[in-house]
Amino acid sequence: MLNNNIVEITSLSHEGRGIAHLEGKTLFLEGGLPGEQVAFEYIRKHRHFDEGRVIEVVHASPDRVVAFCPHFGVCGGCSQQYMSPALQIQHKQTVLLENLLHIGKVEPKTILSPLLGPPRHYRHKARLGVKFVEKKQKLLIGFHEKKGRFLADLSRCDILHPAIGQQFESLRALLMSLGNYRCIPQIEVAVGDECVAIVIRHLENFSENDLQKLKNFSKEKNIKIYLQAAGPDSVRLLDEEDVEDLFYCLPEFDLKLFFKPLDFTQINPVINRQLVLRAVQLLDIQSHDRVIDFFCGLGNFTLPLARLAQSVVGVEGSAEMIARARFNAEKNQVSNTEFFVENLMALPQEVSWKRNYNKVLLDPPRVGAVELLTSMSLQAERLVYVSCNPATLARDAGYLVSQGYSLESAGIVDMFPQTGHVESIAVFKGRL
Ligand SMILES: C[S@@+](CC[C@H](N)C(=O)[O-])C[C@H]1O[C@@H](n2cnc3c(N)ncnc32)[C@H](O)[C@@H]1O
Repeated sequence: MLNNNIVEITSLSHEGRGIAHLEGKTLFLEGGLPGEQVAFEYIRKHRHFDEGRVIEVVHASPDRVVAFCPHFGVCGGCSQQYMSPALQIQHKQTVLLENLLHIGKVEPKTILSPLLGPPRHYRHKARLGVKFVEKKQKLLIGFHEKKGRFLADLSRCDILHPAIGQQFESLRALLMSLGNYRCIPQIEVAVGDECVAIVIRHLENFSENDLQKLKNFSKEKNIKIYLQAAGPDSVRLLDEEDVEDLFYCLPEFDLKLFFKPLDFTQINPVINRQLVLRAVQLLDIQSHDRVIDFFCGLGNFTLPLARLAQSVVGVEGSAEMIARARFNAEKNQVSNTEFFVENLMALPQEVSWKRNYNKVLLDPPRVGAVELLTSMSLQAERLVYVSCNPATLARDAGYLVSQGYSLESAGIVDMFPQTGHVESIAVFKGRL
């Protein structure tokens, strides 16, 4: 300790807190950056470490920047706006490499250059909470607060696509003008290349008058509105005569991929284009290659791979997404793909889709792919693993290396700037 509750921060923890050492204990400080001297207050003391938050920066790091969002510090949507983009990237790369080393006991031979995109307005998918708060007499729309379970009172969001991020006030006014605004718990946002859509979840039916107000708003703002009365199957276009036109293009592969507003799509389309291109390049696809794309979703990697390979099999747990992938293959006149629905976390003894393959792409959810890897013993020349969780990637990388694969390269993909989420890609070479 330098002074009364003033400490020097030496490094960053994986989740982005500053690390200091005080009286023989490690202290994790929210809002502190390496090299800084800060005044802090304790949040919680534990036996082996303590937690606190920075209340004043006495000596600032050159990597400290002013957060651009008026809701920074309250909204839990993105927590790293006070770090320079360069530090965010460097930190994410450190998190990836340290996870690989400590959890997987592996090190990539090469570190891939980070894939970078726009720092703001990148987010094309989001679920926004909606709640009328009696005490404030206000309808809140937004993400959850950083602390606790309440919704942050957002006037705008600069991470979201501006067609929605700059429309919070008019959305709030629209919802408040409806008879049943207390019965709207959430809005889902889905933005395609030429269409902005929202799905309004409602627990009570709308009156004719309310439906007309929604239609007027939709026309005026050029936002397509879907209504959701119950589960995902109940989603309907507000104007049933309207055409569905959510799609994104992957021009490098001459592809146009259609999706529905609740489908999984990568949230950052600029980064997604780079990611798909990199994955295909890293697999070093040749015209005789037979590829399996696990967790294929609507064909985001499958169809680009199919443009170059002999054949591609896409496997995925959601029947809806497989239907979308088949539709997308047909629409794009791709005829060398086959798609199968399978729960890849609990494989049966025999699977109908197991063909001769020599290359593999894996893009699992946060839990990773350990069940698939241990039950299937993949024999591939090259395997590219796209991950949204460096801890499960590291665990699975350790397993793959124990099975004879080598970790050729790995790197980060800045899919979620300003947040602590780390997307990454890793390349494994098999013994084939
Ligand atoms: C990270 S997304 C990747 C989707 C696709 N590769 C893309 O880029 O759009 C993970 C996918 O895994 C699927 N999934 C989740 N759990 C699964 C399971 N148990 N078995 C098979 N697929 C699953 C999800 O439906 C989702 O499409």
